[in-house]
Amino acid sequence: MKIINVVGARPNFIKIAPLMRAYGAVRSIDARLVHTGQHYDRAMSKLFFEELGIPKPDLNLEVGSGSHARQTADIMVRFEKVCLDEQPDWVLVVGDVNSTIACGLVAAKLGIPVAHVEAGLRSFDREMPEEINRVLTDRISDLLFVTERSGLENLEREGVDPSRVHFVGNVMIDTLRANQVRAAESDVLERLGVAGDYGVVTLHRPSNVDDPDTLRRLVDTLQGLARRMPLVWPVHPRTRQRLEAAGLLPELEQDAGFVLTGGLGYLDFLKVTSSARLVLTDSGGVQEESAVLQVPCLTLRENTERPVTCDVGANRLVGTDPKRIRDGFEWALGVDRSALAMPELWDGGAAERIVRVLAG
Ligand code: UD1
Ligand code: UDP
Repeated sequence: MKIINVVGARPNFIKIAPLMRAYGAVRSIDARLVHTGQHYDRAMSKLFFEELGIPKPDLNLEVGSGSHARQTADIMVRFEKVCLDEQPDWVLVVGDVNSTIACGLVAAKLGIPVAHVEAGLRSFDREMPEEINRVLTDRISDLLFVTERSGLENLEREGVDPSRVHFVGNVMIDTLRANQVRAAESDVLERLGVAGDYGVVTLHRPSNVDDPDTLRRLVDTLQGLARRMPLVWPVHPRTRQRLEAAGLLPELEQDAGFVLTGGLGYLDFLKVTSSARLVLTDSGGVQEESAVLQVPCLTLRENTERPVTCDVGANRLVGTDPKRIRDGFEWALGVDRSALAMPELWDGGAAERIVRVLAG
């Protein structure tokens, strides 16, 4: 059985790593890896392959950046040729990025069954490009692998045939659990000059960083918090561009309350989040990881497609309102971390469960 696995953007690499390893144990599966090239900087792509031992992609479609239409269309045209040449039995896509829907759609139109890992998540916010990608990918998928119970409920409500849906846990957390010991050895805190209590910031959602007024308000609020506790902020390339364009980068770089760095490698980032007092983020994956690490998380959004992270007590939605963020900061410092529950099935075994289903 030939399965083409698709990755394109940073979180995809982290999700595919345990799957590629799990395929290795099943002789009947011939697993290929296609990288669309959506993310391409070393720090957003190759570094994760090296650190996580992901096999070199069989093909890189090298689409690069562009508008949604251009990027999605370029991936589709190039991936269609791959499917026609390779004639896979399955195409497996992960997450909710443009590469996910683009390749899922190509496969579905060619009559190739599609497996979607991380199906069923819904923010119910169609202004998020990822929400459109999620809804559409699930609609055309033949096998839907779900990370949390909310995903089961969403798919049931949308009328998806339950025999296609499997609650398997979370491959991103497989990677976290497999790398915690290695990450603990990272000397990133020394390299960044961080000691004592600190918080971690990641931001990259267009709704937060593309509008200069919202970005300015968030930066002002973070500057206020950074006077109380240093904030380590690995800056996503989209955000770096927006901070530069808004003229905010020099002042942040000079602000002694911040430790600004480029996007970190996986092990360094895991070390930084594991040792933090709190996380402030708009990332999907970082919400999940902080829940497992039992590090309180403030999500700088009005909604989350990952409500289990709130249900276990680790995550609070604070949007972009300064007062709610400041109140959330106080809440986070008071959280009894030992009382936080663990999301169901986030136990490191998701990839093996998925491969078992695929192998039949
Ligand atoms: C994408 C995903 C988002 C995901 C995020 C993970 C979509 C619609 N968005 O957002 O869901 O949460 O990745 O990080 O698929 N850039 C670089 N170097 C790179 C990649 C991008 O400089 O290696 C810059 C380019 O200027 C590009 C911008 O970042 O225009 C945005 O990249 P893009 O992949 O379009 O979206 P992300 O914001 O990264
Ligand atoms: N991550 C990383 N380095 C960083 C920031 C994030 O390795 O500097 C990892 C993080 O641990 C998580 C993933 O990237 O596994 C999340 O990806 P991202 O926030 O880019 O996308 P999202 O999850 O929001 O789609």
